[in-house]
Amino acid sequence: MRGTEKASVLLASNRGPVSFTSSDDGVLTAKRGGGGLVSGLSSVAADGAGQVWVCAALSDGDREAAERCPGGRLDRAGLVDSSMPVRLLDIDPETLHGAYNGVANSTLWFIQHMLYATPFAPAFGQAAALEWDAYTAYNKAFADALADEAAPEARVLVQDYHLALVPKLLRDLRPDLRIGHFSHTPWAPPDYFRILPDHIADAVLEGMLGADYLGFLTERWARAFMDCCVRQFGAQADYGPAGMSVSSDRAGHETPTRIGVHGLGVDAPSMIERASRSDVDDRLATLREAVGDRQVIVRVDRTELSKNIVRGLDAYADLLRRYPEWRGRVVHIAFAYPSRYDLPEYRDYTAAVTSTAKEISDEFGTPDWQPLILHVEDDFARSLAAYRIADVALVNPIRDGMNLVAKEIPIIASATGGGCGLVLSREAGAFAELGEDALVVNPYDITGTADALHEALAMDRDERRARCGRLAAAGAALPPQQWLADQLAAL
Ligand code: F6P
Repeated sequence: MRGTEKASVLLASNRGPVSFTSSDDGVLTAKRGGGGLVSGLSSVAADGAGQVWVCAALSDGDREAAERCPGGRLDRAGLVDSSMPVRLLDIDPETLHGAYNGVANSTLWFIQHMLYATPFAPAFGQAAALEWDAYTAYNKAFADALADEAAPEARVLVQDYHLALVPKLLRDLRPDLRIGHFSHTPWAPPDYFRILPDHIADAVLEGMLGADYLGFLTERWARAFMDCCVRQFGAQADYGPAGMSVSSDRAGHETPTRIGVHGLGVDAPSMIERASRSDVDDRLATLREAVGDRQVIVRVDRTELSKNIVRGLDAYADLLRRYPEWRGRVVHIAFAYPSRYDLPEYRDYTAAVTSTAKEISDEFGTPDWQPLILHVEDDFARSLAAYRIADVALVNPIRDGMNLVAKEIPIIASATGGGCGLVLSREAGAFAELGEDALVVNPYDITGTADALHEALAMDRDERRARCGRLAAAGAALPPQQWLADQLAAL
């Protein structure tokens, strides 16, 4: 797309496909994200449609980049490749903080993942009211930018809980657009969702219903959203075989808002290629030396409260206590890389992960056996190396929209090794697609998780390989390009 042309396909998300760091002498360095949305949107570019990705400047480097570009258009100032047009929104840091840390990550994330210790939190007082104002302003900034960038009747795909208000705000500005919203998180059942004060619950649901089409990762999350609309303000939900929809006069449009389910999987060929590069080989050699010929249980997560890392470590300790035959014969590789460190809950959780790991090493370690290898710094190549030697993958979230690691490990273990068993939480979205070939656990049940780890380690190798092959096929069945194309088609 050239000059001031408007876009016919627009994507909006809090975190964009590129981030910047600025050196002391003012030089900006761009780092491109490798996620599925990036490759998905690139594939849309191939059909010649004008497109743009609208996202927030999240760091000082990002803000500096946005300031240097007229209208925040990085592509027009040559800061990103013209094949990936990006408009970076320079939202003031206080508003961003209230919207991102306050409402999105501390309130909506905690609601959808059901993370609150409710005797103490949440408590909606004056501080929460200011954060809500920030969230509203931040959503408005996105709606304004999208309205400005969109060609007549363009299709707009809004991503996630950060931008729940955008569909309705955008429809008010530009009724000609076709608007979709996709939730990458789970959705809470009505009793839990309605912890939110009514004006916030109303605004979130109404904001989303302003879209023509709402996408969710599983039917369970889609139905929970619909149930919330029914309970909160008596919307009419149609769960019928001809397609799901919600009708309400709060949506701001006459036609029902259609609801669709789009599971998201892995771009398997590109991940397998990435996992075979030399930097992964180097890290594999180091890990191999540490584990020897022992079996390996692997987990890789953001250090995220919903990932349930501490109970996973407790289950490993329980395995070593109740099934002592595994002592000296298994190593647990746990990578828990940093996330949302601005929030005290995440800092505390990281400390709990580290101290629980130390207790396991102190209790079980011997001079010639290190039972647990924990790393808390992000190293994608090292994660892929761990995938290659996994005998068992442990994915035990309290609640998770999908969990791509549950798909990635079987894909890599199947392509490059003897295959792995998967111990999987029934509360992960991935359960809907992988449940049959996984060993399924209740994430709160430490004893049950330890038993499942034992069963996976003891599983006949042929059966493990066969299950892993089916898990890998299911994990690769819905690549990101397809996921995006399906939603654009639905619009
Ligand atoms: O599931 C929601 C999500 O936006 C994911 O797409 C992503 O993995 C995660 O949250 C990242 O969160 P943040 O941008 O806060 O690091």
